[in-house]
Amino acid sequence: MRVHFRTTHRRGHRRIVGALSAVLLGTAGATALPAAARTPEAPAPSDTTRTTSTAEAARLPDELAKTPPMGFNNWNSTQCRAEFNEEMVKGIADLFLDKGLKDAGYEFVNLDDCWALPERDENGKLVPDPKRFPHGIKSVADYVHSKGLKFGIYTSAGTKTCNENGFPGGLGHEMSDAQQFADWGVDYLKYDNCNNQGVDAKERYRTMRDALKATGRPIVYSICEWGENKPWEWASDVGHLWRTTGDISDTWSSMLSLLKQNLPLAPHAGPGHWNDPDMLEVGNGGMTDTEYRSHFSLWAMMSAPLLIGSDLRKATPATFEILANSDVIALDQDALGKQATVLAADSGRWTIVKELANGDRAVALFNETDQPQRITTTAEDIGLPRADRYRLRDLWQHRDHHTTGDISATVPPHGTTVYRAAADPHRAARVQQVRSPGTGWSFAPPLM
Ligand code: GLA
Repeated sequence: MRVHFRTTHRRGHRRIVGALSAVLLGTAGATALPAAARTPEAPAPSDTTRTTSTAEAARLPDELAKTPPMGFNNWNSTQCRAEFNEEMVKGIADLFLDKGLKDAGYEFVNLDDCWALPERDENGKLVPDPKRFPHGIKSVADYVHSKGLKFGIYTSAGTKTCNENGFPGGLGHEMSDAQQFADWGVDYLKYDNCNNQGVDAKERYRTMRDALKATGRPIVYSICEWGENKPWEWASDVGHLWRTTGDISDTWSSMLSLLKQNLPLAPHAGPGHWNDPDMLEVGNGGMTDTEYRSHFSLWAMMSAPLLIGSDLRKATPATFEILANSDVIALDQDALGKQATVLAADSGRWTIVKELANGDRAVALFNETDQPQRITTTAEDIGLPRADRYRLRDLWQHRDHHTTGDISATVPPHGTTVYRAAADPHRAARVQQVRSPGTGWSFAPPLM
């Protein structure tokens, strides 16, 4: 069977699928559930434990991508337009350093589709487009490396990439292309799904995995088959991340749809094998800064790769402020590697919780609706141990609050309040001291 996708058709199809899932999973207008009710997006903890836990999932033995990859990819801002070129890529690498993004954890500078010429050379090798990359790919990779950053590239597990110009794909050329990438100093490969000729996805993606391994170069391997073959069920030892959805676009509805498709896949993510709901649109202009803060917060909660998709040479201070929020990035990069799960979703008011390596919990109170909403949960419901006082760090306001257990916020339309919540160390210690040895808790009197 020959499978030829025209990008526009595929996009249209995926947009419909996305819209349908949004309707099926949407919560706006749903009847109110009890505070801790589990929605279809939120398997009960026992269900989560029964499915693949992060500890059990087979994963690649290379120790790469122990936390979700962070970096830049040009696609969301340039697509195939001429401004995608050597100058842009070097400019982004410069800005990673100048704007503190490297210090914030951003590492990869990745090329997407359209970097090559449509024809291979007489030896079957890929040829960089001399207009975009007059000094070739190795020279750009060297530049990126000279900044202490890493370099990524793109091709498709098909005969051609997705763009209608028909750039060459890797199917049938895996060993040669992987070696060429390694020779150029590539550290990250995004491997797309267009023009796949109906060849079994597992076979196609495993062949490239083996070809990358054979080069001996550590290369983060990003599977991009849009969730069509449920890669979360078979790819944890094939790639380091896999797209779970169709392409994002720079709209609120697209972001929301991808969020709702990716949330239920939490049990499948973990160190070295991540769900990828697609790259960031933060800064591209189609959403408000409030919406971009939600997008960024929710991607971090879901341990998604954080690949900046805007042209940072034109970005506003607000965009840099969002992308460089180190408290939010710390949730994404937390060493435990647990994707957040939905604790409650009630009429568009979402409580999403992420367990963190030091025992803290991150809680996102996300307002999907067009009105301000009070969203409420408790320290106990988000899984914190009993204490008589808790500290809540508001990761966008950069302020600490204290609470005896109530966790709530009035969240603006389309906004997200994110708290990092912990039992107050002193108060928790005091409670520990008076814990009755046998049967539960007795509380220390509140400290003044
Ligand atoms: C597909 C991918 C996108 C992008 C384009 C490039 O649509 O899903 O992320 O790489 O191809 O053509």
